[in-house]
Amino acid sequence: MRRKSLISTEVFDVKRLLDQVALVTGASSGIGSGVALCLAQEGAKVIVNYASSQKGADAVVAEIKEQGGDAISIQADISQEDQVLNLFAKTYEAYGTIDILINNAGLQKDQPFTEMTLEAWNKVIDVNLTGQFLCAREAAKEFIKRGVVPGRSCSAGKIICMSSVHEVIPWAGHCNYAASKGGVMLLMKSMAQELAPHKIRVNSIGPGAIKTPINKEAWDTPAAEESLLSLIPYNRVGESNDIGKAAVWLASDESEYVHGVTLFVDGGMTLYPGFATGG
Ligand SMILES: NC(=O)c1ccc[n+]([C@@H]2O[C@H](COP(=O)([O-])OP(=O)(O)OC[C@H]3O[C@@H](n4cnc5c(N)ncnc54)[C@H](OP(=O)(O)O)[C@@H]3O)[C@@H](O)[C@H]2O)c1
Repeated sequence: MRRKSLISTEVFDVKRLLDQVALVTGASSGIGSGVALCLAQEGAKVIVNYASSQKGADAVVAEIKEQGGDAISIQADISQEDQVLNLFAKTYEAYGTIDILINNAGLQKDQPFTEMTLEAWNKVIDVNLTGQFLCAREAAKEFIKRGVVPGRSCSAGKIICMSSVHEVIPWAGHCNYAASKGGVMLLMKSMAQELAPHKIRVNSIGPGAIKTPINKEAWDTPAAEESLLSLIPYNRVGESNDIGKAAVWLASDESEYVHGVTLFVDGGMTLYPGFATGG
């Protein structure tokens, strides 16, 4: 007798995030916009957050709507507590609740260590680390208050932190950025430990080099791209869509038992490629 497949083929026709509400911070550009589009394609209603690029955010909303999805844009500087509270209040006004938080907004202010200003240090920590704390805290409050909604998801809520390969790879000239992502790693794991009894799942994505405005100088000439590829065993620079597809999986019930981990999506950048030919 043939064994019945454990995976229903019907599952592939079903939108994996149907009717769930997803907030993507920093979704007016780069990885955030790719993640927003991928979540919407899986049936999520998406809040496209932005700090200053209203045009970029509106273009993402328009693209989602053109594809038959549902999205709105909301401006908020996620490093400011009052603006985060307002962002969540507007989210509840529009959609009533939240099921998925993609803590994505981030920036770089690169300076050599001895020349790094306190301003450049604080700005990166404020947006990349404190911003993730503020948004996750508000999302967790709602997840705990509302609990699991049967039929929508097995979990009461999902938090996905956008970290980086630089949560484990040191990065000279970028101490503020690497420190912020190292901080995100233990913020994510500590939240995962504390929030698990509430059926809230918390994970990170650690992108490698993804083609976005944040790192344009690293890939926008053939020479720069060639040099970058020496760090990527899979020999391809990543696209926002690579991260979007990973975010969909981590937000969906397919990954229900995945909790407290960083999923590196990096073409092998964290495999110490310098050792590929000996060492
Ligand atoms: N690209 C990569 O290779 C790579 C690799 C590893 C990790 N990452 C991480 O991925 C995330 C997205 O980066 P990206 O490459 O997509 O960069 P990006 O194209 O420069 O986009 C950054 C986004 O963050 C938003 N943002 C910045 N400060 C904000 C604030 N205070 N409040 C709200 N939103 C804010 C920006 O909005 P406005 O334009 O409206 O200001 C923009 O939408 C970051 O956390 C970054 O560290 C990127």
